[in-house]
Amino acid sequence: MSELCKAIGLVCEHLENPLGIDCVTPRLSWRLADERPGARQTAYRIVAASSLQKLTEKPDLWDSGEVESSATLDIPYGGKRLRSRSQVWWQVQVRDHRGKPGGWSEPACFEVGLLRKTDWQASWIGRPADRKTGSGPSPWLRREFRLDGEVRQARLHVTALGIYEMYLNGQRVGDEVFAPGWTDYAKRLQVSTHDVTGLLRSGDNAIGGVLADGWYAGNLIWNGNRCSYGNQLGLLAQLEVEYADGRRETIGTDGDWVTAEGPILEADFYNGETYDARRELTGWDKPGYDAAGWAAAAVLKAPRTRLVARQNGPVRRQLELPAIARTEPQPGVYIFDLGQNMVGWARLKLKGRRGQTVRLRYGEMLCDDGTLYTANLRTAKTTDYYTFKGAGEVEYEPRFTFHGFRYVEISGGLTSQPVVEDVTGIVLHSDLGSLGRFECSEPLVNQLQSNINWSLRGNFLEVPTDCPQRDERLGWTGDAQVFVGTACYNRDAAAFFKKWGLDLIDAQMPDGGVPHVVPDVIRNGGVSAAWADAAVICPWVAYQHYGDLGILEQQYDSMAAWVAWQERNSHDYHLPEVGYYFGDWLAIDIPMGDCGRAPTPKDLIGTAYFAHCADIMSQTAAALGRKEDERRYKAMVRKVRAAFQREFVAPSGRVVGDTQTGYLLALAFDLLPERQRAYAVERLVKDIEGRGWKLSTGFVGTPLLAPVLTRFGRVDVAYRLLLQQDYPSWIYSILQGATTMWERWNSYTKKNGFGDVGMNSFNHYAYGAIGEWLYATVAGIAIDPAAPGFEKIILQPTPGAGLTSAEAEVHSRHGTIFCGWKIRRGELLVEAVVPPNTSASLRLPGQPAHRLAAGRHSFAFPWPAGGAK
Ligand code: BGC
Repeated sequence: MSELCKAIGLVCEHLENPLGIDCVTPRLSWRLADERPGARQTAYRIVAASSLQKLTEKPDLWDSGEVESSATLDIPYGGKRLRSRSQVWWQVQVRDHRGKPGGWSEPACFEVGLLRKTDWQASWIGRPADRKTGSGPSPWLRREFRLDGEVRQARLHVTALGIYEMYLNGQRVGDEVFAPGWTDYAKRLQVSTHDVTGLLRSGDNAIGGVLADGWYAGNLIWNGNRCSYGNQLGLLAQLEVEYADGRRETIGTDGDWVTAEGPILEADFYNGETYDARRELTGWDKPGYDAAGWAAAAVLKAPRTRLVARQNGPVRRQLELPAIARTEPQPGVYIFDLGQNMVGWARLKLKGRRGQTVRLRYGEMLCDDGTLYTANLRTAKTTDYYTFKGAGEVEYEPRFTFHGFRYVEISGGLTSQPVVEDVTGIVLHSDLGSLGRFECSEPLVNQLQSNINWSLRGNFLEVPTDCPQRDERLGWTGDAQVFVGTACYNRDAAAFFKKWGLDLIDAQMPDGGVPHVVPDVIRNGGVSAAWADAAVICPWVAYQHYGDLGILEQQYDSMAAWVAWQERNSHDYHLPEVGYYFGDWLAIDIPMGDCGRAPTPKDLIGTAYFAHCADIMSQTAAALGRKEDERRYKAMVRKVRAAFQREFVAPSGRVVGDTQTGYLLALAFDLLPERQRAYAVERLVKDIEGRGWKLSTGFVGTPLLAPVLTRFGRVDVAYRLLLQQDYPSWIYSILQGATTMWERWNSYTKKNGFGDVGMNSFNHYAYGAIGEWLYATVAGIAIDPAAPGFEKIILQPTPGAGLTSAEAEVHSRHGTIFCGWKIRRGELLVEAVVPPNTSASLRLPGQPAHRLAAGRHSFAFPWPAGGAK
């Protein structure tokens, strides 16, 4: 074990060595590498320089001096003023808990992009007369240029209307997929900056780009709606070269570029890609190519939007899954099973003859006769076509589309039968920090954890989406709001939610209303309780997990505007249904003994969420030191609670509607006085019991079940629901074959087949919101609200049902937290790892709390303990 404390994992605005940032006081963070018990930082010193050499010799930008502080997160850069293109190399030295300085960290860097409009010399270009509607061939754009001298350094700043790939001298620039990502392009358009030094050479060079519709002009929403943002694809690229002798040169998109159509005849997220290899433009991205047939590119009017830096990790290829089986349900139609419902595209080895076309279709499920099930994709054609240019084997994968699938169907145009080894699935999603881990002694629950993570992967593609396969794939706010906590346990999604927060601000209506989807492409002006509340809940939960006050600062006005909307639309703090609310979406309508079914009133949901948001606002204001606001929101919470009680609660504690969701909201959001809580819990449990220990909740109630039951002393009932095998339950879908979370518990059943095709996604994370409870309660790694970001940790392993062990790992910003327990021979054995610079409080039923300093800990307690059920 090293005796020194060292800073590792240096990041700038949550990103590793970002290029092209658009902020000049970015915040810097690190973790401590120090395994000694009680490891803590007592001071830090940051130095920054304009080059790596200066960093080690004489830092010329910043020396923070020694700062006595334990802070390791989000420390604003405080050095010399930065401008466009400033490069900053930085490193940190920390002092440990004994006051001893450790070595310097490895250097890290960040670089500022083009901050001012005038930094851009490039012009927007596109093909001459663009289509108005309907997808068409992808434009290829290129130009050659000479560099006379050795290149010291080069950067490519690039963005597009549509999605793009860039090439330099025959090589792909970077590995971002679907750049520039998805924002409301009329408001913010993300620029990526690439280090292309190694791709250039003295002499002749060629640069090129390919465009496709993407979110900008492709199908979006449903019913064949196209061109949500525009119909003229455009490219803006600026290559900035610095020679070894200090001269600079800029090559931008302009009227000297030429354009042609290539092999991609159609590319659309919903419909798929059509590729004709006979039309490949071999050598187009290399110098010396004969571009005689190409037309001059049109110089376009620059769109009115703000060019901003990318804020989160781009979509990238993350994994490759091999096919595990091949079937031939009809002659010449081959189906490959990847063993896992996933999102991305297939990579295929295909053998055919010139001019023959292979058809590739994708589906999440198979029909009983073994053919591909596609009815749930609705109007999304989800079909790729590949036409051969010659004989022999080729490798093909599409690039401007994505599909949600477990099965790939290949038919037509092949000269030999494809084999299992010919097909893999390329998994795509936004870059997110490392994967958390949860495991326990019950394999079905482990499958649930896996399904949750696969739905997270499949739906964290640029924005948090409802589903990845049908003609929808939108940033539904309600779904994100219920899942954010689970997402944050499983991945580092700080940058992802920070960027989506900006999207939400862009989408918010002038009166503070928050649309159903963000970015708002539906644009119907509708606002729904439990959906719009994402504006307040998502930043707050992200803050709890990552301790970044910046996200609260960024969202504060938007959060406040949403709560002001609620206040304005309420009548004496009772919030009625305004327009149309989705209610407890997909709640279960199953008859129950003497109660029957009563849906949760929508105004109850609205008012409960109003109270919850006002409460979060008071805490947010407190965290940001806005005393006056804190007082105001506290008073508001009291008024909304009073309205809730007045409208919905009988003196006994019975809640109007008598539904599980009604009780859950009342209890979760502290809407009942102490004296009424026991009765409410009793009614809730009675209802669950009366249905045979089953839930009746929808999107709104389901995420609250396990946490509320646990908080009010009925963790036994939470476990019963978790392990319930009959419909409706988590395990039920698993027993029907789910490898991802389903939109409905019975999206497919072995007995009755497929559910209603109108809304039947097999990759919908909302019910995966129980994942948070698996971490926080079952394994027992919980947030201490007194010190967000896991600076203080509550460890509360909670054995229950028949589980004999559980463990979890959370990759917090301070380092990896571990908590695991086992029951062995009458003892509960607990092991924990508390990261440096944090502390934990271990709470076990029937035991006094133990305070744990950083380090590894093991305990043994007699079991069963006094208080445990
Ligand atoms: C989506 C849901 C969404 C809902 C709104 C559906 O089409 O898939 O997940 O929240 O609409 O009620």
